[in-house]
Amino acid sequence: MMKIAVAIDGPAAAGKSTIAKKVAEQLGMVYIDTGAMYRAFTWYCMYKGVNCEDEAACCALIPEVNIELKPNRVVLCNGIDVTREIRLADVSFNVSFIATYKDIRLALVDLQRKMAESDSVIMDGRDIGTYVLPNAEVKIYQIASVECRAKRRYDENISKGIPCTMKDIEEDVRRRDYIDSHRDFAPLKQAEDAICLDTSDMTIDEVVAEVIRIIKDKTEQLEEK
Ligand code: DC
Repeated sequence: MMKIAVAIDGPAAAGKSTIAKKVAEQLGMVYIDTGAMYRAFTWYCMYKGVNCEDEAACCALIPEVNIELKPNRVVLCNGIDVTREIRLADVSFNVSFIATYKDIRLALVDLQRKMAESDSVIMDGRDIGTYVLPNAEVKIYQIASVECRAKRRYDENISKGIPCTMKDIEEDVRRRDYIDSHRDFAPLKQAEDAICLDTSDMTIDEVVAEVIRIIKDKTEQLEEK
């Protein structure tokens, strides 16, 4: 297959990473979970005892943070395996502050663009189609109802042994939807040329098949040119 970039954006817990990971495996592409990068940065601020609401103090850590995404969704921060820690509730809460800080976003976007330079990538996040990779060949905006997203995130946490309640998760999803779509710099929004996919009533396999169909159609069109 020709080298392409696929951007999958959408609100919290819409199942983007589950889909992106499976599609990447099936098509032999590199999967980049940008949310995990914001989470790893947040984890580092907390690890250093820095208040995540203190923008200047968090941004001051930029030069010393080194985030690596490894196979099987393993995330390293300065060599420490933080794969599990970054999914815990306190990181999920604080990441929405960190993700509003422009300097941190610029540093992580720079890293994301570099990651997309040499391979075919499927990158998921909030601003991939609008800001990080505006020339991505395929852009998908994946949505689902709040109730549906909360239930999926709840099931995922429970299966990983992460304690939570449906009520807390639903509140967190609503809160993050608001913060993600109202920040000044690179907010969550559908790119004009993105295909919107409402997955509320779809199974994971159905969404994966649909995304693969969209990617194959697009690559065929591009190869014909
Ligand atoms: O997708 P996620 O829940 O792991 O994302 C964690 C947080 O990072 C979420 O609050 C939104 C933010 N984020 C962002 O602002 N831009 C991205 N490209 C990816 C995530």
